[in-house]
Amino acid sequence: MINLILFGPPGSGKGTQSEKLIDKYGLFHISTGDVLRKQIAEGTELGKIADKYISAGQLIPDELMVDILRHHIESHPEAKNGVIFDGFPRTIPQAEALKNMMEDFSSEIHAVIGLEVEDDELMERLIKRGIDSGRSDDNPETIRKRLDVYHSSTQPLKEYYTKSGHYRKIKGSGSVNEIFNEISSHVDPIVKK
Ligand code: AP5
Ligand code: MG
Repeated sequence: MINLILFGPPGSGKGTQSEKLIDKYGLFHISTGDVLRKQIAEGTELGKIADKYISAGQLIPDELMVDILRHHIESHPEAKNGVIFDGFPRTIPQAEALKNMMEDFSSEIHAVIGLEVEDDELMERLIKRGIDSGRSDDNPETIRKRLDVYHSSTQPLKEYYTKSGHYRKIKGSGSVNEIFNEISSHVDPIVKK
C-alpha cells in the first residue's frame, strides 16, 4: 500500500497523470478541487463557501480544507488501500496536518511527485481548457491569481518535501506518456519494496 502526493501548479497535469496512476497502481484518487466542485454542483452550504474562494483563485482556509479532507478519507474505506493526493497539501500547515492524519491512520506518505512546468505553458494550457471546461476559475485573470497563490503559498512545499526526502522532480512538459513513464520510474521501486 502506498500513498502519493501529486504536486504541481495549476494546469501542470495533476488530474491527467492521476488517471494513469489509478489505472496502473489501483490507487484511490482524491482531488480536493474535484471534491469542492462536487459540493458546488450540489449547492451545499460548503459548496457556497468554496465557490467564493475558487472563483477568486484563492485557497480555501486551511482548517476547513483539512476537515473536508479528513471527512472524505473517513467516508471512503477504499482509501485504506493507498491514495493519490491531487492538489493537497497546498500549504505548510496542510502538509503538517496530513502528516498527523497519516499517523492517525497508521500510514505515511511515500513520495511527492512534483510536476514542474513553466508559467507561460500553464497559462496557455488553462486558457485553452477554459474555452469549454465551464470551470469558473479557468479565465485569464483568475488563472494569473491561481499562479500567484501557487508561487507564494504552495511552492514552499517543494523545499519542505525536499528536506524530508520525499520530493521527486518530474519534467511536466512533453507528451503525457513520456511524463507518465518518468513518474512510473519513481513509483515502481516504491511499490516493489
Ligand atoms: P484544483 O482543481 O486542484 O485546480 P488546480 O490546482 O488549479 O489545477 P487544475 O486541476 O486546473 O490542473 P491539473 O494540474 O489537474 O492539470 P490537468 O491535468 O487538469 O483546485 C481548484 C481550486 O480549488 C483551487 O484554486 C482552490 O481554490 C481550491 N482548492 C483545491 N485544493 C485545495 C487545497 N488543498 N487547499 C485550499 N484550496 C484548495 O491539465 C490541465 C490542462 O492541461 C488540461 O486541459 C490537460 O488536457 C492539459 N495537459 C495535461 N498534461 C499536458 C501535457 N503534458 N501537455 C499539454 N497539455 C497537457
Ligand atoms: Mg486538477
